Amino acid sequence: MSDLKTLAEALKNGTYSRVVFMVGAGISTGAGIPDFRSPGTGLYANLSKLNLPYAEAVFDIEYFRQSPKAFYTLAGELYPGKFLPTKFHYLIKLFEEKRLLRRVYTQNIDTLERIAGVGADYIVEAHGSFAANHCIDCDAELATELLKLDMEDELVDGIPVCRQCGGYVKPDIVFFGEGLPDRFYDLWEQDCKKTDLIIVAGTSLSVYPFAGLPAAVPRRTQRVLVNQERVGDFASSPRKVDILALRACDVIADELAELCGWADELVELIRKG
Ligand code: APR
Repeated sequence: MSDLKTLAEALKNGTYSRVVFMVGAGISTGAGIPDFRSPGTGLYANLSKLNLPYAEAVFDIEYFRQSPKAFYTLAGELYPGKFLPTKFHYLIKLFEEKRLLRRVYTQNIDTLERIAGVGADYIVEAHGSFAANHCIDCDAELATELLKLDMEDELVDGIPVCRQCGGYVKPDIVFFGEGLPDRFYDLWEQDCKKTDLIIVAGTSLSVYPFAGLPAAVPRRTQRVLVNQERVGDFASSPRKVDILALRACDVIADELAELCGWADELVELIRKG
């Protein structure tokens, strides 16, 4: 029996009911948003126009303090609003509708889980999102409509500035050098021990602490990797019962929905969009 078939049987017969998804940029490539590290197509391979000292500097808080222009050049291209959720995002929503979803930990800042209709209580945006914006000096909030106006305003060179102190403002995306939201740690404390199935999808598992989540679940928790390549401890220290679905996320979403008898419901969710 294929691993996915075994997984589908267990989902249908109620073996798993507290499913935690752990996802990364690979679940949004189908939406037209490049991931970060795929050779050639990944964002980090296409930032030469920004003259960065190294690719990840575009999301580094100290580099942002000196040269915010690089991030805001990229933000103009990545800003949510023009991308739609993928089949995989709707599969997560379907798990919620089936009352199987415990949480989705996402590294993505595109808010496509929210746009797919996943309830806010289920979502942990571990690396923040564009949903709000704060000054990096005095922490005053700047409304998104003002941030967007500044991004188009040559007088400030497209860099949003704080109306209180004149400092630089950035969306609440977690930059390298910043801490993850308390929500990440608070909910993981509970979820880690309670989940009976984790589905890790579309991530290279290269950025900690998020990358450490799959290895932290108890041995009794079933783990599934949906990724184009083996990553993290699925490669370095795999567990005997790990299920590896090493194909495109959206293909797996279709296959799993089909095996569970949920194909029509997934199509309907996407149609209602
Ligand atoms: N289906 C399945 N896997 C895919 C697909 C797809 N359609 N597209 C890409 N992948 C895989 C890639 O093979 C890679 O293993 O998804 C993974 C994406 O890895 P990264 O580009 O490193 O993205 P991610 O893991 O989310 O990056 C983590 O790095 O720069 C920081 O903060 C940023 O949150 C980001 C973090």
